[in-house]
Amino acid sequence: MFLAQQADWGVMADRAPDLDDARMQQWADLVERRTGIVIPAERRAFLGAGLRGRMQQLGIVDHDSYYRLLAKERGVAEEWSQLVDRLTVHETSFFRHTPSLQLLTDEILPTFVARNNGNATGFQVWSLGCSTGEEPYTLAMSIQRYLDRVDSDALFGITATDISRPTLKSAREGIYSERRMGGVAADFRARFCVDKGDGRWQITESLRRRICFAQLNILEARGFPLSNLDLISCQNMMIYYPRYQRLQILELLAQRLAPGGVMVLGPADLPCWAHSEFERIRFEGTLAFRRQMAGTASVKGT
Ligand SMILES: C[S@@+](CC[C@H](N)C(=O)[O-])C[C@H]1O[C@@H](n2cnc3c(N)ncnc32)[C@H](O)[C@@H]1O
Repeated sequence: MFLAQQADWGVMADRAPDLDDARMQQWADLVERRTGIVIPAERRAFLGAGLRGRMQQLGIVDHDSYYRLLAKERGVAEEWSQLVDRLTVHETSFFRHTPSLQLLTDEILPTFVARNNGNATGFQVWSLGCSTGEEPYTLAMSIQRYLDRVDSDALFGITATDISRPTLKSAREGIYSERRMGGVAADFRARFCVDKGDGRWQITESLRRRICFAQLNILEARGFPLSNLDLISCQNMMIYYPRYQRLQILELLAQRLAPGGVMVLGPADLPCWAHSEFERIRFEGTLAFRRQMAGTASVKGT
């Protein structure tokens, strides 16, 4: 931990003092400026806890020293990544939202396979805010299982992105404890996971190879080279963002879908969203929009 060795960090202590409102606002402004993440007043305690946790880890007691470090323009990308990891919630699980997975296997995949006549055309997926990998691996297992069942030789690939580097590291490894594997049924385990013999399971290499994990802050994703997608899964990520940012995110996602492509959101994300090129898919318990087959996306209203 090189930072703890710097001279001006102040005296090490177990716990940094609490911040007053003005300093908290200063921190929130810095975080927003550098990451786009808005921390509203009601989540300031979360910001304080995140700062304290990271400072404790580094042995820094003085908020100002840590602030000065992060406010630097260069050479602090890794430290920002560590802090952002503490300011975001990574809770996830395998097969987390059954209705969305049913939508995938009952509606999205059959439509795709029918439209592509069972050819080896790639089904391209973006799993956004993928955390430690459970969501993209669930999608990969479900897609592969469906393609096996209908005897389709269609290929598929998943790009899985998250702002947090530590979560991506464990996502790439694809190793999970028995407790975290709780949602994975025995037949899926047998087909897609390897028992490591120490109470942990690893996703098979062939399934892991279907997924490309990459770090991406969705609020800074304008130039991210993904387009013509058949499915975007964006669940339990936007709940932490205010409405105007959700709208910005959805506008960006809308542009990345192929005609006929679908984005599946968390049911409470932005149910009233409307777009001239999209229709809402009515499937119980889900919030999903399909891009119509012809035309170019442009936001009509919200
Ligand atoms: C609660 S987890 C949801 C994981 C998974 N999608 C699910 O539904 O189980 C939210 C994830 O979104 C990520 N996240 C938050 N803000 C983000 C941003 N601006 N860009 C990319 N990922 C972000 C967090 O790091 C976290 O891993």
